[in-house]
Amino acid sequence: MTGTAFDLPLEVLRARQNVKWRKYAPDVLPAWVAEMDFSVAYPIRRAIERTVREQDYGYPQRNGQNAELLLAQAFADRMQDRFGWTADPALVQPLADLVQGTFAALWAFADANDGIILQIPAYPPFHSSIAETGRRLVPHRMHSDGSRHTLDTAALEGLVDARTRVILLCNPQNPTGRMFSRAELLEIGRIAIARDLVIVSDEIHADLVYDGRRHIPIASLSPEIAARTVTITSPTKSFNIPGLRCGVMHFGDAALLARFRARVPGHMLGAPGIIGIDATVAAWAESQPWLDRVLVQLHANRARLDAFLAIELPQVKWHQPEATYLGWLDCSALRLPGTAFDFFHNKARIAFSPGEAFDPACKDFVRINFATSTAILDQILDRMATAVRALG
Ligand SMILES: Cc1ncc(COP(=O)(O)O)c(C=O)c1O
Repeated sequence: MTGTAFDLPLEVLRARQNVKWRKYAPDVLPAWVAEMDFSVAYPIRRAIERTVREQDYGYPQRNGQNAELLLAQAFADRMQDRFGWTADPALVQPLADLVQGTFAALWAFADANDGIILQIPAYPPFHSSIAETGRRLVPHRMHSDGSRHTLDTAALEGLVDARTRVILLCNPQNPTGRMFSRAELLEIGRIAIARDLVIVSDEIHADLVYDGRRHIPIASLSPEIAARTVTITSPTKSFNIPGLRCGVMHFGDAALLARFRARVPGHMLGAPGIIGIDATVAAWAESQPWLDRVLVQLHANRARLDAFLAIELPQVKWHQPEATYLGWLDCSALRLPGTAFDFFHNKARIAFSPGEAFDPACKDFVRINFATSTAILDQILDRMATAVRALG
């Protein structure tokens, strides 16, 4: 099997000083944190190399203005081009860390012990953002209906009480890979308006979609929904630059931003560095052709994984994600004595993300990251099958 132009050989990946490839022992294949084993788009490399070559490390300006304005405009242009959503660059707060943006939003829009509705299983930092700010998790469990994970909007309304303040949405959803439909998002919006809730919507995976689908930013649905929505995003997942630490938080109207600022002054959030800003602008403005090719590879990997599980490991269940390069694998039919993560780590030398980090009830699940070369994906799958066969 020949690789793609952006595949990186195993020895190059192993030599990298990043958390994906360094957290576990050298014989372990990492399929956990959401990073891709691919080289980045040429416009991103060119933007970074220019700054390094010219040693242009002063306080940055771009186009005669503060560089953060260029970032905000690149975000607004991208939302318009890709999703037909008109976002206002004046209502953008630059971020170096999207999770910090979520923490800050919960801090601003809820008080201690106020309820935060979260679809679970959920990306682990969402759990920490609620716990560490002293807010109260109101779990909204997603269930498999046999073909995908459903979002029960009727149950959602029943969860709202007098102390509920925020719906913390992740769309597309990590780890299930669900992309919420217009009807589901409209219903979430309706409930938020009826019960006076703020929607904090992390849309970082919005570019990583399959089968001709198009992401719908919840803030794009109506001015009333936008007025209570904070959208958080960056190109770090889709363009594979998480270490460059740059993203944005967008407030759906000026009053919402003013409410936020009253609790969290801008300088409490830090700021992205110029290499992150340039890389982000290059990603959003110039790198879509690269992402289109990467999506072909991710789509092929998703199909490869699906076929392999069906034929070789039918005890491991999943639904092909509608978006993201992450798969939520249900290993409960293997009847493992401990966690699924420990089993595959110890017996197959693979590091998945442990299911229990997404939901304490999910120790029989792991999350796989399939954004890698066909060669590495095949090694991961072979190791899984060998370990499962040895169970007898
Ligand atoms: C839903 C979601 N939000 C945020 C992040 C990370 O954002 P950051 O690295 O900027 O904190 C991730 C990374 O996997 C993610 O999946």
